[in-house]
Amino acid sequence: MTESNRLGSDVLLTGATGFIGAFLLHKLLEGTQARIHCLARGETAEAVLRRLQAAQSRYGLGTPDPSRIVPVPGDLAAPALGLARSRFDELAGAVTAVLHSGAEVNLLRPSRMLQATNVAGTREILRLAGAGKAAVVYVSTSEVFGPADGTADESTSPEGALQPVSGYGQTKRAGELLVLRAREDGLPAAVLRLDRVAGDSRSGACQPDGDDFWLLVRSALTTGVLPDAPVNMTPVDFAAEAVLALTATPGTGLTGPVAHLRHPRPVRMAEVAAALGEPVSVVPLDEWAATLRHHGERPDCDPILRLLPLMVERVLGGRPRFLAPLTTTALDRLGLRYPPVDTPLLGKYVRQLRSTGFLPAPIRTSTG
Ligand SMILES: NC(=O)c1ccc[n+]([C@@H]2O[C@H](COP(=O)([O-])OP(=O)(O)OC[C@H]3O[C@@H](n4cnc5c(N)ncnc54)[C@H](OP(=O)(O)O)[C@@H]3O)[C@@H](O)[C@H]2O)c1
Repeated sequence: MTESNRLGSDVLLTGATGFIGAFLLHKLLEGTQARIHCLARGETAEAVLRRLQAAQSRYGLGTPDPSRIVPVPGDLAAPALGLARSRFDELAGAVTAVLHSGAEVNLLRPSRMLQATNVAGTREILRLAGAGKAAVVYVSTSEVFGPADGTADESTSPEGALQPVSGYGQTKRAGELLVLRAREDGLPAAVLRLDRVAGDSRSGACQPDGDDFWLLVRSALTTGVLPDAPVNMTPVDFAAEAVLALTATPGTGLTGPVAHLRHPRPVRMAEVAAALGEPVSVVPLDEWAATLRHHGERPDCDPILRLLPLMVERVLGGRPRFLAPLTTTALDRLGLRYPPVDTPLLGKYVRQLRSTGFLPAPIRTSTG
């Protein structure tokens, strides 16, 4: 990415203390000359900077250049993003683009608990961007589509049978609607929906607490079974690079209001089992669900299995096929190719999650 990108000289980034935001910050520092204003929770600018640096180090991204970062202590859930009015106005006057990745990402909480951050926070972000007509990139999710048969591409609306059922999906959808309305009113704004995001394709660094996919994998170490359900995962470093390239490259990037990022090749559970190197079988969905229920009833069960109803519901509930025809064409134009998520990379993820203690040490040595 060059200086002549559409993001301009001053980018406001939210969520940079989190997983995807940390990689967005890293790519922005690496690929642009912009000053990056990072709005994050913290009492002082120094505290925010320390949290940003900790996130870079957690994901093996090195030490960021503090002279390029403007830490902004704030809170998406608070009026005016938790900023004094003069600071809000000053920021609104300075920023040329906003990358809004911050959100409360929680599949268990009801929407009323997520509204303030995910919906009101997005409204405040748009108010700030609108003052100076700054471009807005809203990082969204395939979770805006609820469990239903069919397909969902960039032009499909998450409504009717496809409307989200989780509070998280509902609040991200409500955020999208605000962004798309602002776009209709003339703000240069876009929605980038990401499907499942996996660890860094180079280092294997994953979210330290795993996500629901790795919870499911961890449960297999107790139950001995994985469901025969392929899964598409996009490595986080590629997701961050693609988000920036699609939105920042004049002429060749995103042309419509919505983009979809989804790895074209699904990973088969047999590959995951092989990467684990443990005695785990891949079984039909109903057999897997019955085995999980059986284990969940045992008093000594792994506490992870308390999340069993959610896991079963999510795997058995079905999803529309998440498709990305327009975005795939745009990525081709940009010369960007999804890195393979194959046995060596899955092995890296497993080793990394073992090193953090999220997955237990192997029972027997893998031959793979
Ligand atoms: N991970 C995935 O597989 C995935 C897939 C599709 C889309 N997404 C989207 O990607 C974005 C980032 O997700 P993630 O996986 O990186 O989540 P994450 O690791 O949980 O990060 C969330 C970020 O949002 C910040 N945040 C939450 N509430 C806030 C508040 N009230 N004020 C200020 N900041 C707040 C968090 O700050 P703290 O550090 O202070 O908590 C953190 O920096 C989200 O918009 C999500 O919808 C994620």
